[in-house]
Amino acid sequence: MIILGIETSCDETAAAVVKNGTEILSSIIASSVEMHKKTGGIIPEQAARQQIVSIIPVIETAIKDSGVPKDAIDQIAVTYGPGLIGSLLVGVETAKTLSYAWNKPIVPINHLVGHIYASWLTESKKPVFPALALVVSGGHTDLVFMKGHGQIKWVGGTRDDAAGEAFDKTARLLGLPYPGGPAISRAAEKYLKSNPVAILDMFPRPMIDRNNFDCSFSGLKTAVLTKVGTLNKSKPISKKKVEQLSAEVQEAIVDVLVTKTINAVEKYKPKSLLVTGGVAANKRLKEKFESEINSNDLNAKLFIPPPSLCTDNAAYVASAAYFNNNPINWKSVSANPELSISD
Ligand code: KG4
Ligand code: ZN
Repeated sequence: MIILGIETSCDETAAAVVKNGTEILSSIIASSVEMHKKTGGIIPEQAARQQIVSIIPVIETAIKDSGVPKDAIDQIAVTYGPGLIGSLLVGVETAKTLSYAWNKPIVPINHLVGHIYASWLTESKKPVFPALALVVSGGHTDLVFMKGHGQIKWVGGTRDDAAGEAFDKTARLLGLPYPGGPAISRAAEKYLKSNPVAILDMFPRPMIDRNNFDCSFSGLKTAVLTKVGTLNKSKPISKKKVEQLSAEVQEAIVDVLVTKTINAVEKYKPKSLLVTGGVAANKRLKEKFESEINSNDLNAKLFIPPPSLCTDNAAYVASAAYFNNNPINWKSVSANPELSISD
């Protein structure tokens, strides 16, 4: 089955053609990130306007690059939430129009569930159930247990800021560009190169010892703000200090995510551990998960897709639609910015 995926939940306009849920025939992404760098964050209105400009050329290019004629596309899959309402509407209304005009079924996909399916697009060995999935994106941090496709049970997540949001907001406090995750990761890497055995315990890890799978990242912003304020009092904070603080911020976030997830692996004993969403592109997170899985002798196989599949794209939207194939009439599809992972 050949599915055209469409993803416009935030600042990426993406379309992809995927065969049988696992083989990417094409994947095109246009991003308005350069525009948002100038303002240090996303202005939703501008992101939506850019979606309108990009959507048709992106879909046209995805179909052309796939080598598949338009008539051979069996279904259209589209992200319908969560996300920015203006951005979501562009993808949803375009998908509905194509569904009507081409007379193809449409499958609405939850963006957070979609992220999980990046793990089916990579390795030759596919995940097996039961699986535990950590979805760490710019707006969400959720840990879910999956008995099978479409059988999702929420087991924990953030009580306040998402992990990606914590990276973005603390980066801003450190004077680093948007998006903060990659910027912090690059700065941290420089520090760790010259200080490979540094002890990184400057910032708090709230809730890390609690007997649940929840976490909290809002206190990290305050801790970084206080630290930067104290340092700035004597003289402007140096590049070297920013690199050190970046390594500290990264370690605090990674530590919480890995500890909570490994505790959940010990309890739920999944066969596969799927780590996905933009923050899963973080090298240190991958390194720490690999070492914890190995040293604790856990029987879960770890799947962390390559960075290009962790961040927003439309290939996982098409894959999720293949494995959760519930097409509905285009008239019944509508954007839902508030959707949660278990809806
Ligand atoms: O999933 P995603 O591409 O978009 C949303 O659905 O939100 O995630 C974007 C988030 C941003 O907060 C960004 O800073 C973070 O993922 N991110 C990273 C890295 N690359 C992207 N965080 C840490 N390390 C990275 N290498
Ligand atoms: Zn995302």
